[in-house]
Amino acid sequence: AQNAREALYIVSQYAAGFFSEQLWNGSEGRAVGLSYFKERGFREDIIRKFELGYSPDSWDALINASKAAGHREAYLESTGLVVKNEKGKLYDRFRGRVMFPIHNFTGRVIGFGGRTLKTDKNVPKYVNSPESDIYHKSNVLYGLYHAKKAIRDLDNCYLVEGYADVLSAHQAGVENVVASSGTSLTTEQIRLIGRFTQNVTMLYDGDAAGIKASLRGLDMILEEGLNVKVLNFPDGHDPDSYMHLVGAGAFKHYIENNRKDFILFKADTLLKEAGNDPIKRAGIIRDIVESIAKIPDNIKASVFIRECSHLLQVEERILLTELNSMRAAKF
Ligand code: UTP
Ligand code: MN
Ligand code: MN
Ligand code: MN
Ligand code: MN
Repeated sequence: AQNAREALYIVSQYAAGFFSEQLWNGSEGRAVGLSYFKERGFREDIIRKFELGYSPDSWDALINASKAAGHREAYLESTGLVVKNEKGKLYDRFRGRVMFPIHNFTGRVIGFGGRTLKTDKNVPKYVNSPESDIYHKSNVLYGLYHAKKAIRDLDNCYLVEGYADVLSAHQAGVENVVASSGTSLTTEQIRLIGRFTQNVTMLYDGDAAGIKASLRGLDMILEEGLNVKVLNFPDGHDPDSYMHLVGAGAFKHYIENNRKDFILFKADTLLKEAGNDPIKRAGIIRDIVESIAKIPDNIKASVFIRECSHLLQVEERILLTELNSMRAAKF
């Protein structure tokens, strides 16, 4: 089994090299892929650092090149790089897409995300590698290999949604950043961050889905005993679009100065919807105490209860009673 896994790593690294070669030296790759990254404002050093590539718009470009290089079809199939149709014929999974290799935290390629260049809403924006013996999506954070040193040094991890967000943060000089690759953050991903720092700052997209995912994610992070701050971008921006809008310096300044602790984030987000309705306000206060109740450390929890009391003008004693009954209900 060890050797089979090794074969999957090797074929994945081969594919990353193939896609990269297509991007820099293939005529289609240069005309379509490289110019796409350039139009989005990505610098060459960032494109190289993340080994970005391009998959030609063909059913068999990767298969043919891989076989010519001596790689076995069975391994290509187990990585999901090629797929078998009903007639038993193999074809390339990634066609006409810009390619983001996904590395594990030791730097080996384990899978890919491929972005369409089309604006057609019926085409999935990203196609990702399926689960394989070397790629377990729920255990992987995109960018961790390139971020882990900075995360340790700065003792903080920025958590973003997507591939492009990681790239743009690096381009702005912010290297302590990883992506959950979508909005469904997992407990395994949080524990992986926890090996490098106890402090997470969520930078999800500033749209409704991103805000909802921030609320869900912060509870999960608290439950794992990590500290969490949250930051949202204006007007539906994500970290990538915001960085390209305002530039590297302003982006860095924004994320360093606008993070909110989770209480303030929840209060701001939820109170916006509730207005002055006292029943809704009470519901929000209970909702915030529910988040505090997830914190395993009692001392930390009591500090947040105090903050909540000041912020929402509710007696601390009442919040503590609520907290204790929620905790009692958990056991
Ligand atoms: P977004 O829809 O926010 O895309 O999804 P994005 O990262 O901003 O993409 P760009 O800027 O348009 O290129 C966030 C992340 O969710 C995953 C990807 O990891 C994506 O980066 N995703 C999204 C998928 O896996 N499949 C999809 O179809 C869409
Ligand atoms: Mn496994
Ligand atoms: Mn989004
Ligand atoms: Mn986004
Ligand atoms: Mn984006």
